Amino acid sequence: MEKEVCLITGANSGIGKAAAIQIAQKGFRVIIGCRNKERGTTALVEIQEKSNNKDVELLMIDMVSQKSIKHAADTLRARNMKLDILIHTAADFDISRKVPLYSKDNVETVWATNHIGPVLFTSLLIDRIKQSEQGRIITIASKGLTIHPFLRININDPEFRDSRFSVARAYYQSKLAQIMYTYWLAEELKNSNITVNCIRVTNVKIDIQRYPYVSKIMKFMYDIKSKFSISPEQMARTYTYLATSQEISSISGKCFDEKNKIVTSSGYSKNKNNINTLMNITMKYLK
Ligand SMILES: NC(=O)c1ccc[n+]([C@@H]2O[C@H](COP(=O)([O-])OP(=O)(O)OC[C@H]3O[C@@H](n4cnc5c(N)ncnc54)[C@H](OP(=O)(O)O)[C@@H]3O)[C@@H](O)[C@H]2O)c1
Repeated sequence: MEKEVCLITGANSGIGKAAAIQIAQKGFRVIIGCRNKERGTTALVEIQEKSNNKDVELLMIDMVSQKSIKHAADTLRARNMKLDILIHTAADFDISRKVPLYSKDNVETVWATNHIGPVLFTSLLIDRIKQSEQGRIITIASKGLTIHPFLRININDPEFRDSRFSVARAYYQSKLAQIMYTYWLAEELKNSNITVNCIRVTNVKIDIQRYPYVSKIMKFMYDIKSKFSISPEQMARTYTYLATSQEISSISGKCFDEKNKIVTSSGYSKNKNNINTLMNITMKYLK
């Protein structure tokens, strides 16, 4: 029988890498989507060794760049392969950022990486996922959204061109958009063999060395926060569950927490008009 293929973006560290190991351990072919060749190759070797599965490969992709996303999708499409699971875990969340950064496509990088990138990549691979007997698309949001229940997408200025930038605001907005995108895509694909679900990631230990520009005070606060965090491996179990469990093969359009329980999201995020408005502006970015 043909092996099932799982592609995870941002799998060279943290939860994505832990999920890649767990899913490879289950015998899947795993493709890790990374933007840096050295970090990607190091992770690839570790994933192969820890999972005892050599069927792991590296796909170069920078989720901030539409050109890179298209190139990565073309690379996969040229091989005419099916894709069973697509997990969008790559994210831009540099908490030290004080001013917005704009990508070569002239899109604010948090918005580009965390929201526009996953929408574009999914759209370019959807016909490959339709080749799967039961395709699964998994998006990633944050439990932190529960302390911002009234957060809205700034439809008129999602990239902070005219409004004051806050990296936290940009990050949570992008994660809220991913939840709304999940609901929209699940509805679009309701008559297909593809399910679409979102993971609401809780407070998970991060390797703070990966963020060298973070101030001492921020590092100190992270130290305290990490005492209440779960490990990437623990959180990755939900990724693995959503990616591989037969139990949920027909569940779509839901958010899951770290205990694999279905959780709700804000009233705003579930409103169909709000979802359609978001997706209308989102589609304008897809050239
Ligand atoms: N950790 C938490 O407490 C927490 C809480 C809520 C939600 N989350 C979400 O959980 C997911 C995983 O986070 P994590 O804790 O595992 O953090 P992490 O270890 O920092 O992983 C983030 C990954 O995204 C990759 N990435 C960033 N920008 C990219 C780009 N433009 N193109 C391709 N890859 C890119 C990074 O690669 P590089 O090595 O190249 O930077 C890294 O592999 C993220 O979506 C995050 O928003 C985490």
